[in-house]
Amino acid sequence: MILTPTMTGLSSPEPLQHAFKVKSAPHAGRTGSRPFNAGPQLWEQWWQQPTSADKRALYIHIPFCRKRCSFCNFFENGAKPERISDYMQSLCEQLNSAAMSPLAQSQPFDTVYVGGGTPTDIKAEEIAALGKAIQQFPLINNAEITLEGRLNGFDDDKWHSALDNGFNRFSFGVQSFDTAVRQAAGRFDDKDTLMARLQQLSQHPSASIVIDLIFGLPGQTMEIWQQDIQAAMECGSHGIDLYQLIGLAGNRIEKAKDKGKVLGPQASDYQADSQTRANMYAYGANKLETQQWQRLSSCHWRRDNRERSIYNSLAKSGIEILPFGAGGGGSIHGHGLMNARNLSEWQQAHTAHKEISEKESLKTPTQVPAMVLTPNPSAAFDAVFKRGLDSGTLAFSAIETSLINHLLPLFKAWQHHGLATLSESNLSLTLAGRFWNVNMQTGLFEYLSSNPYNKTEAA
Ligand SMILES: C[S@@+](CC[C@H](N)C(=O)[O-])C[C@H]1O[C@@H](n2cnc3c(N)ncnc32)[C@H](O)[C@@H]1O
Ligand code: SF4
Repeated sequence: MILTPTMTGLSSPEPLQHAFKVKSAPHAGRTGSRPFNAGPQLWEQWWQQPTSADKRALYIHIPFCRKRCSFCNFFENGAKPERISDYMQSLCEQLNSAAMSPLAQSQPFDTVYVGGGTPTDIKAEEIAALGKAIQQFPLINNAEITLEGRLNGFDDDKWHSALDNGFNRFSFGVQSFDTAVRQAAGRFDDKDTLMARLQQLSQHPSASIVIDLIFGLPGQTMEIWQQDIQAAMECGSHGIDLYQLIGLAGNRIEKAKDKGKVLGPQASDYQADSQTRANMYAYGANKLETQQWQRLSSCHWRRDNRERSIYNSLAKSGIEILPFGAGGGGSIHGHGLMNARNLSEWQQAHTAHKEISEKESLKTPTQVPAMVLTPNPSAAFDAVFKRGLDSGTLAFSAIETSLINHLLPLFKAWQHHGLATLSESNLSLTLAGRFWNVNMQTGLFEYLSSNPYNKTEAA
């Protein structure tokens, strides 16, 4: 049996701070898939064929931002209004034709996520057109429909247009409430403006308002983080995400770091180290939970049942997600699908398809340039572990006993290292385990590739 510290974590009296050296990646995963050439005929066939999925979602990507925030790697295209309106027009045409296809019509969608980039930067009338295009798809009763973005520029016209056209969940990046920290990170508003707007929007009787906070930003001390958590609980939002800053190469913070600089507020070269970030996570999680916020995953909490977080939870279960827009990712009939990011390629494919489909009255949505992958044979298997570890509890009822026995050396090592507790019915992550859960997921997949599980041998 091969067990390495990257799988098990290290033995330490302080597992929260020292079980692993650094968060390995934003998400864990392995793929047994290979690129696959889906020609136009197969594409056509896929859209004529009903789904076999029992849960499904739409993901719609809006790849524009007004500013490149210092911490972020999601910036793709500058938000020029003309460029956005051409894109939105083509996107809505694609959605309207896809919605009529036998594939889309064969089973209702549980949830829709409009992400980016900054979808809240599109105009009120574009939000309305997008909402209407989404309503062309069969949706379950009270389907969760999320619009992601930022508060700056999201005025009353946009808010009402979104509500009137079916959006019922809003996910806003706040990052930090602290005026100096957030503005140094490239954010526009000050704390008072944010608080006032969030308190106002949260008054809505049914829409769910969710905010993202990051810990580990330049200039964000533990004291500022404590004030961030306090403000998050007071701003009226129904859901809160706490993300540890991930230092991915290419963003402005990392580029400054390469030159020996911290991109913080003036006169501050402070940036929390890994141990302080662990303490920040513990502070936020404990504070929210003692104030009766319910933990839905290792990084997401809700005030009450209004916040459902259906998209995030189903996406981790490996359901079918039909992706739209340049840079959107998802799956179709079990094949991974990643739309190309290049806007002009995306636009050209759309225009060419439109001309042909008008001539030949095709009913298939545009096949935009995309990477298609063969089905991942271990997708369903992996999803059980990803979702379980992310939620903080891996229930054994959903896993074969021989597989649990196969994994037991790893589970025992995690228990020994203070990352989890084992019982007959489940593996439950400690606070330290929840902080390091992505490393644990990565470790579990590494364990399975070094110690392959053979069901027949185990039996
Ligand atoms: C796709 S971004 C969209 C956010 C939105 N455009 C905005 O301006 O707030 C979603 C979230 O990812 C998180 N995020 C972005 N870069 C991150 C990083 N380097 N580390 C951790 N979280 C990050 C932020 O909290 C952000 O709100
Ligand atoms: S945080 Fe939002 S606005 Fe800023 S670069 Fe990332 S996606 Fe764009």
